[in-house]
Amino acid sequence: MSLPKINPTNTEAWKALDAHFKDLKGLQTKDIFSKDFGRANRYKVEWKDFYLDYSKNRITDKTLSLLLQLAEEVNLKEAIQQQFSGKRINETEDRAVLHTALRDFENMKPEVKATLQKMKLFSEEIIIGSHKGFSGKAITDVVNIGIGGSHLGPEMVTQALQFYRNHLKTHFIANIDGDDVAEKLNNLNPETTLFIVVSKSFTTQETITNASVVKDWFLKNASEIDIEKHFVAVSANVEGAKEFGISEENIFPMQDWVGGRFSLWSSVGLSICCSIGFSNFEAMLKGAFEMDNHFKNEEFGKNIPVILALISIWYNNFYKSESEAVAAYSQYLHKLVPYLQQAIMESNGKNVDRNGEKIGYQTGTIVWGNVGSNSQHAYFQLLHQGTKLIPTDFIGFSEPLHGNTENHNILMANFFAQTEALWEGTHNKTVEISFKSFEGSKPTNTILIKKLNPKNLGSLIALYEHKLFAQGIIWNIFSYDQWGVELGKTVAKGTLTAIENRNFSEIENRSTVNLLEKFLKK
Ligand code: F6P
Repeated sequence: MSLPKINPTNTEAWKALDAHFKDLKGLQTKDIFSKDFGRANRYKVEWKDFYLDYSKNRITDKTLSLLLQLAEEVNLKEAIQQQFSGKRINETEDRAVLHTALRDFENMKPEVKATLQKMKLFSEEIIIGSHKGFSGKAITDVVNIGIGGSHLGPEMVTQALQFYRNHLKTHFIANIDGDDVAEKLNNLNPETTLFIVVSKSFTTQETITNASVVKDWFLKNASEIDIEKHFVAVSANVEGAKEFGISEENIFPMQDWVGGRFSLWSSVGLSICCSIGFSNFEAMLKGAFEMDNHFKNEEFGKNIPVILALISIWYNNFYKSESEAVAAYSQYLHKLVPYLQQAIMESNGKNVDRNGEKIGYQTGTIVWGNVGSNSQHAYFQLLHQGTKLIPTDFIGFSEPLHGNTENHNILMANFFAQTEALWEGTHNKTVEISFKSFEGSKPTNTILIKKLNPKNLGSLIALYEHKLFAQGIIWNIFSYDQWGVELGKTVAKGTLTAIENRNFSEIENRSTVNLLEKFLKK
């Protein structure tokens, strides 16, 4: 059985949404709350520590019911069941998609259990200091060498959960930029540093090159035999990791049914385990598991990922808004947007549908943003008074972690005030000059969470994973492949050969040749 392959624009719901959109153009969103007292209470979902308010959106009861009908007509329910049951829904790579199995505490696969146990034991040894480096000293620094999904998730989570971290310092080498590698190595002591080489394929040019540079740097101070105390690998390609010189017992396996951008729950999360300890890592998995159950079992009208997916489709495909922003009001979440960018845009940036046909409607949204309140002093001007419609997710927490209530109240006052100002604008206030007028009706979702802890972070990440999957199903695309990154890799191989040989005869593009000439003359 394969995923449903329904062109969403052929559904009854889509046609009705089109007509409804035209009707709604005249909808007075101004004063909508005072005209409809129940609105704020109807357009919300309370779930565990989460409170989603989606009332500040350009939607009515009819919009919602048509969007829900759309989800039914494209068989979203069936698609969700297929994903969770391990059907090979990543058809173009012929793989199952089972990152949810990594956190399925009811029915955990033996290989998942075994890997978690290995991660637990290893991270404990590193944390308590019983694992010694080559000169007999305990490890103080952990460096994750990996890129894309082998970097963004672990970095985002270790930053987000810094409050829960131990004495170990974590670092990330991702970019092939040699200056960055040199800067990172400058601050490290080979005697007390553990390197985790993370690459599902173990063929990624950046990671393998950087890992070799790091190994050479290490060997200036140590000998080959010491490698096993300082280098471990995370990979689905055990042979590749062994060839690199990492011993089998130092390889943490991952399965081909875990996609790179969904892999932080797997052994890719080893740097997270080292940084916050296994029990916190496990709490994060549990939070994700709870969100999985919510997504799988809750009716769509109260299902947070589904509601957010549908609202996003409403703006993307009917209002034709091209991007959406995410503003998390917590400095801890400053790496959330880059993480979401890979998860969402690598998944849903597709122009061919599941039937292999060229798509005639808009798919993947552009995701961008930064943390509040900083963002208010940067791009918020454009949200308030720009000409583009940019729906924004506001994410905030009721409790601060360090108990600084005064700052937190100011932070959160801004959080609540911004969504209100974006929605209300200045329509019922007297404004002397047009430059000071705000048209309002700028849509936002507010995700208010009790506290930033491992469990709630796990639920939040899983929420966005499921949102993007639901959108991919509705758009009739395959969200779990990423062929779009391959062409650039192939071209770069030829470019590198040309640079190394100082010979551009194989390069057809004149602009590139000019640039290379300039580059090599220096
Ligand atoms: O090039 C894109 C990509 O394949 C991502 O999907 C992936 O997260 C990243 O490269 C790293 O891949 P790997 O873990 O195999 O090194």
